[in-house]
Amino acid sequence: WWDHVAPAPKDPINSVTEAFLADTSPTKINLGVGAYRDDEGKPVVLQCVREAEAKIAGCDFLESVSSAVSSKLVEESVKLVYGKNSDVIKEGRFAGVQALSGTGACRLFAEFQRRFYPESQIYMTDPTWSNHHNIWRDALVPERTFHYYHPDSKGLNFSALMDDVKNAPDGSFFLLHPCAHNPTGVDPTEEQWREISYLFKVKNHFPFFDMAYQGFASGDLDRDARSIRIFVEDGNLIGCAQSFAKNMGLYGHRVGCLNVLCNDAKQAVAIKSQLQQIARAMYSSPPVHGILLVSGILSDPNMKALWVEEVKVMANRIQNLRTTLRKSLEQLSSSLNWEHITNQVGMFCFSGLTPEQVDRLQRGFHIYMTLDGRMSMAGVTTGNVSYLANAIHEVTKF
Ligand code: LMR
Repeated sequence: WWDHVAPAPKDPINSVTEAFLADTSPTKINLGVGAYRDDEGKPVVLQCVREAEAKIAGCDFLESVSSAVSSKLVEESVKLVYGKNSDVIKEGRFAGVQALSGTGACRLFAEFQRRFYPESQIYMTDPTWSNHHNIWRDALVPERTFHYYHPDSKGLNFSALMDDVKNAPDGSFFLLHPCAHNPTGVDPTEEQWREISYLFKVKNHFPFFDMAYQGFASGDLDRDARSIRIFVEDGNLIGCAQSFAKNMGLYGHRVGCLNVLCNDAKQAVAIKSQLQQIARAMYSSPPVHGILLVSGILSDPNMKALWVEEVKVMANRIQNLRTTLRKSLEQLSSSLNWEHITNQVGMFCFSGLTPEQVDRLQRGFHIYMTLDGRMSMAGVTTGNVSYLANAIHEVTKF
């Protein structure tokens, strides 16, 4: 038995964490995984989460998620996507289910896509989050890519993107990042989103949004959902994966939501039941604790207001460190252009560092990031930013 089983290739993100943890240097820096850290480089438990924990302590919830709690989570999550006064919500035009964070939501959707559109493919931005490839591959949905990032400008290749959207067969599935694109930190402007949305409508494409970083692009949850709302205003049907791993610091609790916008409430009932059936066969039901935390925070006006403030604080800290890192590199008289550090948004900076330079940073300076040069800006602190700038300068100067 099992002789034919070879080790799986290492995960490009998790393997960075493993290497970082094995390093004993006191000056090591982890810019690998996209999880929020405070200015001491420590994981953060938000104050709103602490309050929600205190509220649910000792209550009788350990058997399974009651349908009331599950509906509350979905009801509150979709408000973050569509806006609290949205017609979509009033009309009950969405099929929403809780999911195992963003990965679980994407996987549920990918399974659903294969089941009901077995001939379909998924178009992904080039590049995209490495796990997107795994998720749709394991759901047996063939993958295509479309232009997104422009390596020279380190910004958006808008004209090539529009050409690819235009040239894709009508009625194609596209995986989009509504804000804080992972790994590039490059988002279309509002005007560009309008043009993309218009073209999707004309081509009858289906956009599936993976919203893993709501709040981290602008510090404002509504503003970060603007792209999705433009698509909805234009009459597109959409799907959306939501994760509370980053914006509530609940990575380990796997709390998320999947919703699919439908033509009417009747369609929504059918689609929801199908999604529930897919989940039932894969993992039955999600863990309870995190769901109680998130639904507790979102349905309590005071705790929600506290969360909104805490998201701003996290986003601002990252934004400030972007400015400091860029300035520090410029003060070192680097001959390279580092404007993209502040032009890009969200948790990541797609630095433009080559795999060789990334390797030198790791070996020579104990600085860890994924081989594609993506830096999780959450790992940068006021204490390590000048060490980081010096190291980047060392490996990039001629
Ligand atoms: C990342 O891209 O680093 C995050 O989305 C965390 C993960 O699970 O990969």
